[in-house]
Amino acid sequence: MKPELNDLVHTGPGTIAGRYLRSFWQPVLRSEDLAAGVAVPVRLMSEDFTVYRGASGAAHVVAPRCPHRLTRLHMGWVEDDAIRCLYHGWKFDASGQCTHQPGEREVFTRGTRIASYPTAEYLGLVWAWLGEGDAPPMRRYPDFERPGFLSVGIPERWPCNYFNRIDNATDIFHVLATHRETMARESGLPPQGIDGGWAAPEVKFAETGFGVESTVKGASGNTSYFHFLMPNTNAIAAHVGRVEGYRDGSRHWKAEMFIRVPVDDESCISFPLALIDVHGDEAVQVRTRRDQARAELDPERLIEQDALAVIAGTKRIGQMDGRMSAYYSFLVEDYACQVGQGAIADRGRERLGQIDQGVALVRKIWLRELAAFAEGRPVKQWEVPAGLADKTQPQPSWVQPQG
Ligand code: FES
Ligand SMILES: [Fe+2]
Repeated sequence: MKPELNDLVHTGPGTIAGRYLRSFWQPVLRSEDLAAGVAVPVRLMSEDFTVYRGASGAAHVVAPRCPHRLTRLHMGWVEDDAIRCLYHGWKFDASGQCTHQPGEREVFTRGTRIASYPTAEYLGLVWAWLGEGDAPPMRRYPDFERPGFLSVGIPERWPCNYFNRIDNATDIFHVLATHRETMARESGLPPQGIDGGWAAPEVKFAETGFGVESTVKGASGNTSYFHFLMPNTNAIAAHVGRVEGYRDGSRHWKAEMFIRVPVDDESCISFPLALIDVHGDEAVQVRTRRDQARAELDPERLIEQDALAVIAGTKRIGQMDGRMSAYYSFLVEDYACQVGQGAIADRGRERLGQIDQGVALVRKIWLRELAAFAEGRPVKQWEVPAGLADKTQPQPSWVQPQG
């Protein structure tokens, strides 16, 4: 059967979109959230996993449950690079092989295994291969490997389907309305004053070797680029952007990307990464300020609280907590709009117009790839080229030739 819009949102084991997403390495956790010797439960694409960091410093992803009497493995002990179950002490090495079962014969131990998944750490995140067959090499993002301060954002856990967030990648026009109040607050103008009568930017969308490129010509004549990287990553080419924790309107050159991973069909997690063009002492200052804002405000809780109040109708978008930086209030605005669509938006009832060409294009590509994938035909091999983040002019210092 030909995949339909409704198939994009279901990603549990065995679903077509779930199998397709699993054919790419996916981030599972922020590296800094996994201390050595610690195991945590992680749910992704309606499937549970145990993630732990062994004494060697390596992260491991294994089955959620002990095969003995099925209790959760993360409750147990990490011993070297193995994990031992809390219930009766069965021990599994990182490959999933059982190596010790108190009170059992060795032959029984040798025949006991749990699933284990190829795991790697890259750009401050723990990634895993959760797909069928052998893991392909992990995709790299060369633009984010360059010098600068790589700020690994607070993972965003939102109670909506991951596709609500993917749809937003090429939804350029939402910025005018959704972020109007924050932009007004920043500029000191009333909301009516900032948008020049809602003058829409000129936007072109095109399929590329990595996904979709949105080229946006602003009223000022500047051109900016937004990249959707198949299958689940939004990227913004280098721009002078807001920095987390800065309430004074400070901006820096930065390139960003956001990887949207389903937790289950009604919630998702997004991993934001920003490569900021600051170095040395300046990078230390930016990091310190970011960490202070995180410690003082607990932005994850504050953003959720404000956005849910806006959705519930007990707060207006302009009444959000005034201590938040524009970086955070952009998130409240996005959260309210995207979660406000419903956990799983009914796309059959939408009324798409002119401004939705980018949204329609991403869905069309996804459906085309899912159809090929479902029928066992070759799917497009997506590649993220080096220099993708550098299309903007003028360029930030970190893209200029070294030396
Ligand atoms: S349930 Fe894990 S050892 Fe018994
Ligand atoms: Fe937005």
